[in-house]
Amino acid sequence: MHGGIVSRSPYPERLDLMDFIAVFGSVYEHSPWVAEAVYPSLTPGIDVAPMAKQMRSVVDTASDELKLDLLRAHPDLAGRLSLAELTESSRSEQTDAGLDRCTPEELRDFQELNRVYTEQFGFPFIIAVRGLQRTDILEAFRIRVNNSSNTEFTTAIEQVHRIAKLRLETIINEN
Ligand code: GUN
Repeated sequence: MHGGIVSRSPYPERLDLMDFIAVFGSVYEHSPWVAEAVYPSLTPGIDVAPMAKQMRSVVDTASDELKLDLLRAHPDLAGRLSLAELTESSRSEQTDAGLDRCTPEELRDFQELNRVYTEQFGFPFIIAVRGLQRTDILEAFRIRVNNSSNTEFTTAIEQVHRIAKLRLETIINEN
């Protein structure tokens, strides 16, 4: 059974694997392998923090190649994809941060920074946008584009973990 009451269950361990993946498979963007790996070790009534920690450890112990795939699974912020093409989580994160209401100048800045950043690092700029304004995001973007590749890889993975925790909180507290 998908959607409805099941998708809002506060008891992840009661879902069968398919339902669990349907609900938690996008906590890490387009990367259901993370949810699948924690499924066997879920404990009754597991809460956000321990579940986030388990998922984080799956990613942290994955190969750099898989981590890179995970980073590359993210869409550009304020990118050319239409809102309809984004995952539900990405769409609401971006609209909550006002990224769908950029001025033409901001849009031009995002597009140029997205281009330079992706060329530099080989993955899109990722930042947990909750609580940030467009100007904060652009400021962080301008700073991070000058980081070394190693620093930026680590920073991006850390931001992905923050985004995942926020997504988990949203799913589990939606009841
Ligand atoms: N930060 C929060 N959500 C997203 C997203 O979907 N893509 C990118 N690049 N950064 C994000």
